[in-house]
Amino acid sequence: MENKVKNIGVLTSGGDAPGMNAAVRSVTRAALSCGIKVTGIRKGFFGLLSSQMEELGLRSVSNTLQNGGTFLQTARCTEFNSKAGVDKAKMNCIAADIEGLVVCGGDGSFRGARDLSLAGVPCIGIPCTIDNDIACTDYTIGFDTAVNTVTQIMDKLRDTSQSHDRCSVIEVMGRRCGDIAMQAAVCGGAVSALIPEMGVIDLERDVISRMKRTLSAGKNHFIVIVAEGVVAEQKLDGSPMTAGAIARYIESQTKIESRDTIIGHIQRGGSPTARDRIVASQMGYHAVQLLRQGIGNRVVAMRGDKIVDIDILEALGMKKEEDKEFQKMMREISI
Ligand code: F6P
Repeated sequence: MENKVKNIGVLTSGGDAPGMNAAVRSVTRAALSCGIKVTGIRKGFFGLLSSQMEELGLRSVSNTLQNGGTFLQTARCTEFNSKAGVDKAKMNCIAADIEGLVVCGGDGSFRGARDLSLAGVPCIGIPCTIDNDIACTDYTIGFDTAVNTVTQIMDKLRDTSQSHDRCSVIEVMGRRCGDIAMQAAVCGGAVSALIPEMGVIDLERDVISRMKRTLSAGKNHFIVIVAEGVVAEQKLDGSPMTAGAIARYIESQTKIESRDTIIGHIQRGGSPTARDRIVASQMGYHAVQLLRQGIGNRVVAMRGDKIVDIDILEALGMKKEEDKEFQKMMREISI
């Protein structure tokens, strides 16, 4: 196949996610193997606006696969949201002979990719975020690593909760999406997972009654997971429903000593799991096959176990479907 482009750019944007390096490595090696030059852009769209670029060779991406974070670094860039920002980015692409761009990031980064595509620089988005909150794809790079990290932390917290007959309330990330919380709850055996998709949380119904039922069946240590989306949106006695507030409430209602832990950015770091390395490699490769045909304005996605691509405008208009079956399963077995 004849290449329609001679040089492509690659950047990582928004919050970092384990597996971003594997995606950049795959893009770089796939492009070089078919004779396309690769320009690495530092610090996401911010670096594109300030021309922080370097050529990537085969060895530039050596020894990056196993590392969390992104060696290209990333940033959230508000300047890019304006027409002037997009025009400047386009001019910088032209000046650097960049004829196509791979954008590794989340929905916010895809909006930038859409704007730049419409301005004439073909862009391909690769979904990278620990949140798994991108509607057009069944999977986002970084999610599996984050769930594994949370699971390991839950196992440690379970050790100490069991020793003291306590309840451990753990807050996890995910923005407005409860996928990290739900999957970790299943992996770590939480008695309850509070996620934004549940709507209004009723602590009596969703936590206390489940704990009491479990207590009467002989269990005396517990894990409750709360997604940050619930903390941001719901109130308990007029204050945010934080892990600390929930722990205090549980203690008052059940007399079980409770402690809270906010995992925070620990769940964003760490060496990517095999799944994240594999999906990132597949998606990076797919992105290059599109760009080399001159195709842009697409998001690479996973549907079942297949890698596909979707129009960015269509992808951004989609709404993520809730996995009600998974939620039901979690509630029935975590008791
Ligand atoms: O999108 C990834 C994520 O880690 C979310 O889960 C979280 O809400 C947000 O980023 C935190 O952003 P920052 O790193 O800018 O504090």
